[in-house]
Amino acid sequence: MDTEPTVTAAPPASAGTTTAPAGSAGPAGRQRLPEPLGAGFLARPEETLAGIRETCPVARIRTPAGRPAWLVTRAEDVRAGFMDPRLSLSGGRVPDPDVRRRALDVTLVNYDPPDHTRIRRLATPALTPARMAAQRERIERAAAELLDAADAARGRGPVELMDAFARPFAFRSLCEVFDVREEERAALYQPVALLADKTGCSARAVEESVARIDAFVRTAMARREAAPGDDLVSRVLAAWHEQGGASEDEVASLLAMLLLAGFDSTVQAIGMSVVALLGHRDVQDALRDEPGRIPRAVDELLRWDTPGPFSTKRVALEDVRFGDTVIPAGSGVLLSVAAANHDPRCHAAPGTLDPDRRTAARHLSFGLGPHYCPGSALARLELTVALTAVLARWHHLEPAVPLDELSWGGGYLHRRLAALPVLPHGAV
Ligand code: HEM
Repeated sequence: MDTEPTVTAAPPASAGTTTAPAGSAGPAGRQRLPEPLGAGFLARPEETLAGIRETCPVARIRTPAGRPAWLVTRAEDVRAGFMDPRLSLSGGRVPDPDVRRRALDVTLVNYDPPDHTRIRRLATPALTPARMAAQRERIERAAAELLDAADAARGRGPVELMDAFARPFAFRSLCEVFDVREEERAALYQPVALLADKTGCSARAVEESVARIDAFVRTAMARREAAPGDDLVSRVLAAWHEQGGASEDEVASLLAMLLLAGFDSTVQAIGMSVVALLGHRDVQDALRDEPGRIPRAVDELLRWDTPGPFSTKRVALEDVRFGDTVIPAGSGVLLSVAAANHDPRCHAAPGTLDPDRRTAARHLSFGLGPHYCPGSALARLELTVALTAVLARWHHLEPAVPLDELSWGGGYLHRRLAALPVLPHGAV
């Protein structure tokens, strides 16, 4: 969800009472604002965000993209922000039904209700926990095969867990849910992986990848129209035929978004969970000994760290008050999921990784409200299967490089771990 819509510059901070830093005009008339999300933020977001949350919980900043935005950091305010229809993802724009679009030109995160609702409802029944549980065996098989291959390839050396496991596992899980044919998977992986991480890619390569995803989705739709099955595409099409209310482009766009949004977030959540377990050997051992605790621990691991420290940027359609601060109409707003997940007002001793934490499921890593992640059941299932398989495979897992030397990339809206070398010890 790393789109950053253009945001009308906010009026001066005099609108309403505010506790945010007032800022001052820079040499080129650009208001000087704090820029806390630059270098250093990606490796340790919680330190920066805790400072902001405890000193200036609704802060006016400039993002690394150079745009002013308001940062909302307390759990109670972040929850309220997700539920507030005045914080818009479309910025008030209404889709034009006559414009023909390709798969990725329109996504759920560009729409507000009621347009958002009429499209989203086509997907949610296809992604329930029960529907996803039906895929469990196939997803478990994928995990076991990938770990067999990683073990066979490593000899006694380290395993680079992102390439050997997290990326192919998340992709294969999606292929199972979409029922992608075996012979089409390798060709589909390339554009999915490229669009997940466009670092160093030419505009042409991005364009070609979008075209390939578009073609894949249209072909899958045509195939499932002719021969419906029990897969995600067939279920979305069935809901569309039953309920109507969306154009073919919008359905294609919805499916493309499910494919792409479901990939890298889960890859990164697997990597981040393993990093947390590498840094907490006691928790790693406890979960290996009692795998029945893993499903709850998955929520704690999502609370602990998440690929998306912020919501997708919203735009305030009207003045919106959080406590003493009024965010003026027209401003860009980032709801900080990561700051909320570590807010001691919501989670006691937030700096302790507690696999049995009772409040763990109150994390906001999947968002909240109308845009709540529709893939959360699949993501939880994938994380449970992945961690169960990894812990069961090896007696213990050590980092192959010091954890504070891991290289974090991506951007402030979507953090990305490039590589995670681990030293597995023995087969259990
Ligand atoms: C651990 C993995 C995942 C995380 C942390 C995650 C996180 C999120 C968050 C925070 C949002 C809400 C964004 C906002 O309101 O600003 C969201 C929305 C979304 N996610 Fe996920 N997600 C994950 C996995 C998935 C998967 C597996 C799928 C698809 C199968 C998926 C598909 C989507 C879609 C389509 C949306 C947009 C929903 C809407 O706007 O109504 N996500 N996700």
